[in-house]
Amino acid sequence: MDVSYEIALKERGRVVTGRDLMPQLPELLRSVGADRMVLLADAGVAEPAAQLAEELGAPILSVPGGEALKTWAAVEERAQELLEVGATRKTLLISMGGGATTDFGAFLAAVYMRGMRSALIPTTLLAMADAALGGKNGVDLGIHKNLLGAIRQPDLVVCDMARLTTLDDAAIAEGLVEVVKKAAMLDAEIFEALEGDLDALIARDPAAILAAVDAAVAMKLGVVQADAREADHRMLLNFGHTVGHALESLSGFALPHGTAVALGMEVECRMIESEITARLSALCERLPLRGARPEASAEEIWALMQRDKKSSAGQVRIAAPRRLGQGEVFEVQRGDLLACLN
Ligand SMILES: NC(=O)c1ccc[n+]([C@@H]2O[C@H](COP(=O)([O-])OP(=O)(O)OC[C@H]3O[C@@H](n4cnc5c(N)ncnc54)[C@H](O)[C@@H]3O)[C@@H](O)[C@H]2O)c1
Repeated sequence: MDVSYEIALKERGRVVTGRDLMPQLPELLRSVGADRMVLLADAGVAEPAAQLAEELGAPILSVPGGEALKTWAAVEERAQELLEVGATRKTLLISMGGGATTDFGAFLAAVYMRGMRSALIPTTLLAMADAALGGKNGVDLGIHKNLLGAIRQPDLVVCDMARLTTLDDAAIAEGLVEVVKKAAMLDAEIFEALEGDLDALIARDPAAILAAVDAAVAMKLGVVQADAREADHRMLLNFGHTVGHALESLSGFALPHGTAVALGMEVECRMIESEITARLSALCERLPLRGARPEASAEEIWALMQRDKKSSAGQVRIAAPRRLGQGEVFEVQRGDLLACLN
């Protein structure tokens, strides 16, 4: 089997990465053990999804993919479809697509009959390097990202690099942001390797991309296995996200998630006067990201930061590295944001 990296999770499930896993997928999925399988397929990967469904003899629930999918109304609609195809708690829901589809599908699997089996096949670099890992799932409530959700480890995650060929360069860059984020917080050596390999990564050198995904899986699952419920340590994975989510909301979700996180990391580093601010900005500037900071005042951004899930009793907390590879959680004030945005 062409598996590059495999990790079994403490709670349940396992994550498998590799370069051309399509021939092994049916066997991997069957190893979960289920009474039947249903494939929730992102329109962005309609062709390989149709091929997989045929091999498995599984019905397909087609979804458009993208953030617009992540609504409560869509959960109700797709749950009805699961009922119509006879899905039970022992049925495996396979969610194949970008991070929006894996977030949505994993949430649907968590609430359908109080929890059915769930496998994720992330098909964007961002979903492989972040969204499909760690068990967090959910949908949005109006402009509030991921406000309705659960933490539940999937039974299986399969990251097949073959899926990345149909993505554009900006989508690859957005995924790389999530790898950079983790390395900046957790591992100086990986950060330095990313700096060195960035041109190869942007050019999609297969070995470099697979190494970056493997590093992301190891870093994220290392943190999640220590703190699945986000008591403390898991917050370290939120670098760039407190400001980033606010920017995404204020753009009406037009700003891609990876770009929002890159912008968020830069602002959050400046807020805590991090010594890696310039180095991180230089790295992100080399990435062909799309989208720019939405027209929004610092007050509007701050108001949304106060509603972030890490905040409580009006205290806003961000996770950021003051030194490379040594992320911490900081309490920040409105003035810190105003000082670096004005
Ligand atoms: N649960 C978590 O821990 C976590 C972490 C990070 C991000 N996320 C979520 O991930 C989502 C962003 O994920 P994303 O960046 O993958 O974007 P996305 O899921 O919105 O997908 C972007 C577009 O790419 C298309 N697509 C998917 N795979 C493709 C492929 N192989 N080839 C061509 N097109 C393809 C989709 O149809 C969609 O149009 C956000 O909703 C974010 O909140 C979740």
